[in-house]
Amino acid sequence: MRLRKLVSCGIVMLSLVFGFSFTEIAHGYYIPPTTGQIAFAQETSDLMLNTLFAALTQEFDETTVDNVEQGKHSISLIFNDRNRDMRLVGTLDPLQESDRPSDSFERQANALAMVGQTYTSVQRVDNQWYYRRSIPLSNFRAECALCHVNFPAGPTADWVGALMLRVPIKR
Ligand code: HEC
Repeated sequence: MRLRKLVSCGIVMLSLVFGFSFTEIAHGYYIPPTTGQIAFAQETSDLMLNTLFAALTQEFDETTVDNVEQGKHSISLIFNDRNRDMRLVGTLDPLQESDRPSDSFERQANALAMVGQTYTSVQRVDNQWYYRRSIPLSNFRAECALCHVNFPAGPTADWVGALMLRVPIKR
């Protein structure tokens, strides 16, 4: 009797554990996020975009012919290559080879950015769902060409690449 109780208790426990992990796996792999979860990620990306834009504007305001190399170093530390959630991407003689589009989202987004269009997508990368977006960048300030010597003397309306954000969607 005791043994039977123990066995059925074990079965209940096991099915709970399996049930839980299957739900977890299903969330990661198959079940797309809800519209509410996507909206939360989108609003997060709006905040992130404003913060990054403010930081870049500050850096451009301080850029002079005398501190170009320091400014480049500073920007590349902010856009650390190990952080895949925020990237500056472009194909016009990029300052770093790693800034070229690196997956199908970035290739599509960069092609659209070069004609001034934004691009967004909700997609799974490995086991994580992301809200991804791309904001086209034009040569809108005189300082751009101080660091990007291949850009025309600005400001001009030429599209030169994109800022790409990737927000993990909370489940
Ligand atoms: C102080 C120097 C500096 C200025 C000014 C600057 N950038 Fe950049 N930019 C960088 C650096 C450094 C990177 C590489 C960042 C990284 O490590 O991924 C970069 C990357 C980029 C990229 C990705 C492709 C590439 O060349 O690597 C684009 C597109 C871009 N910047 C656009 C602009 C635009 C548009 C402006 C003006 C509004 C601008 N930048 C002004 C330093 C600068």
